[in-house]
Formats: sequence, structure tokens, C-alpha cells
Amino acid sequence: MTTTAAPLLEVTGVTMRFGGLTAVNDVSLTVGEGEIIGLIGPNGAGKTTFFNCLTGLYVPTEGAVRYRDVVLPPKPHLVTQAGIARTFQNIRLFANMTVLENVLVGRHTRTKEGIFSAILRGPAYHRAEAESREKAMELLEFTGLAAKADHLARNLPYGEQRKLEIARALASEPGLLLLDEPTAGMNPQETRAAEELVFAIRDKGISILVIEHDMRFIFNLCDRTAVLVQGQKIVEGDRETVQNDERVITAYLGAPLEDSTPAAPEDTK
Ligand SMILES: Nc1ncnc2c1ncn2[C@@H]1O[C@H](COP(=O)(O)OP(=O)(O)OP(=O)(O)O)[C@@H](O)[C@H]1O
Ligand SMILES: [Mg+2]
Repeated sequence: MTTTAAPLLEVTGVTMRFGGLTAVNDVSLTVGEGEIIGLIGPNGAGKTTFFNCLTGLYVPTEGAVRYRDVVLPPKPHLVTQAGIARTFQNIRLFANMTVLENVLVGRHTRTKEGIFSAILRGPAYHRAEAESREKAMELLEFTGLAAKADHLARNLPYGEQRKLEIARALASEPGLLLLDEPTAGMNPQETRAAEELVFAIRDKGISILVIEHDMRFIFNLCDRTAVLVQGQKIVEGDRETVQNDERVITAYLGAPLEDSTPAAPEDTK
């Protein structure tokens, strides 16, 4: 995979401290156009915190995040507008809204219709709404959820809720998608289908940065993988580089990487 001179995402020296705890310590990382990059590491290594620093949920103590060569302001809606979308380790859907409505919410950063037009509900509003619904349905087709468009999000099985999170993130028309444990709670068949979905997203021209504990998923998909341990990036490279690195093996307490089991979903992230 070739990368352009200026990477799509360029993270330099990001540090995040919470009081005395340094959750992310001087981490730099790039994602090029069309790349799928993995981020792995033991529980509590700082992976989700790193995502939160990229997406404006946290203001990093130090460091900068550039997207398309522009420094990102640490505000979630501005990050989304700039072209970065994400899913959450702890699924954040509107449980009592339909599947289609959840995707429509994801589109709002890309629709120009303002509040007055929505109140007046003139022709421009109806046109924009019809277009939004059409695009949202396309995304539901793409993620395999079209038949459930009218179901309430909370009634979807867990694996489909994860897919819906991805559909909603795609609705903001990102150039970069951040996935935080997209296969947590999925069975092996769903996990393999999720791999296909990630490749299909990349084939749409969207770059991907993905956190996962499932090593097979990571190494099947990723052009490069970075390993975080106690907030620090200890190694980055292809499958062989990562799997043979002594520090990685030690960090995983000597367990072969192939045998790592996916972590149970948690409620706090
Ligand atoms: N808002 C916060 N305030 C204080 N400490 C925090 C906060 N968010 C995260 N931490 C701490 O930062 C460390 C890294 O947590 P993080 O959730 O980023 O790990 P992770 O690599 O995503 O782990 P997991 O694989 O379990 O999801 C942990 O020690 C966590 O308790
Ligand atoms: Mg996490």
C-alpha cells in the first residue's frame, strides 16, 4: 500500500494524563489514504483514551492531531465535520429509535437544512429529507441491515447493533473511520463478516484505524499494527514484526497472540 507524502491522519506526541496517571504517553501514529491500521494492547493500555484524544472527547495534555494536514480542534462535532467518524467500545445507539432513524442522526453533520427550514417544512426540507433517507437506506443495504430499517435499535442482536454503529458512523461521510472493538461480542461467523465489511469500507476510499483484541481479525485486515502497552507505543509494523517482538510477547504474559480471546464488552467505555 503506497501512502501520499502527507498522511491522511498524523498524530504527533499525544500524551493524556489523568491526575497522576499517564494513560497515553507520547504516542505518534500516521494513517495513509486507503490504509487499514490496527491498534492493539492489553486491557487498560490506553487504546480507547487514544481514540478519545483523536476525536475531541479529551483534550490531550500534549501533542497534536492533524487530519489532511490541518490541526484538528478538540471538539467532537468539528472532528466529525472534518471527516473522522468513530464507533464506541460501549455501543452508543439511540435504543428507542429505529435503525433507519439512528443512521439519519449520523447524517446531520452533512445536511445543510437548518432549524427554520425544519420547522417550516418547505419543499427544500422535504427534498433534503428524501435524499437523506435514500442515503441512509443505501448504508443499511451496504451493512446488511436494510430488512430491519424499521426495527427499534434495542431489539437488534448484539452483532447487528455493532453494524448499525458502523452504518451511523458512515452516514457522516468520513474519510477516516475509527473502530473501537468492532467484533466484541460477535460470534466467529459474524467476525468474519465484519472483516469483509471493513474491506468493503476501505474499497469505498475510507481509511480505517481499528482497535481489537481478536488478533486473527487484526492480522487478516491490517496493513500495519501498532501496539500500546501502559500508554506507550512499543512497536509498530506488519504481522511478523509485531508477533515476534519480545516486548509484545511479554506484555501479553507470554500467551501466543493467536490465542487471545476477545474481551467481554464493558459498560464504562
Ligand atoms: N476519564 C478518565 N479519567 C481517569 N482515568 C481514565 C479515564 N479514561 C481512561 N482512564 C484510565 O486510562 C487507562 C487507559 O484506559 P483505556 O480505556 O484507554 O484502555 P484500553 O486500552 O481501551 O483498554 P480496554 O482494552 O480494556 O478497552 C486506564 O487505566 C483507565 O482507567
Ligand atoms: Mg478500550
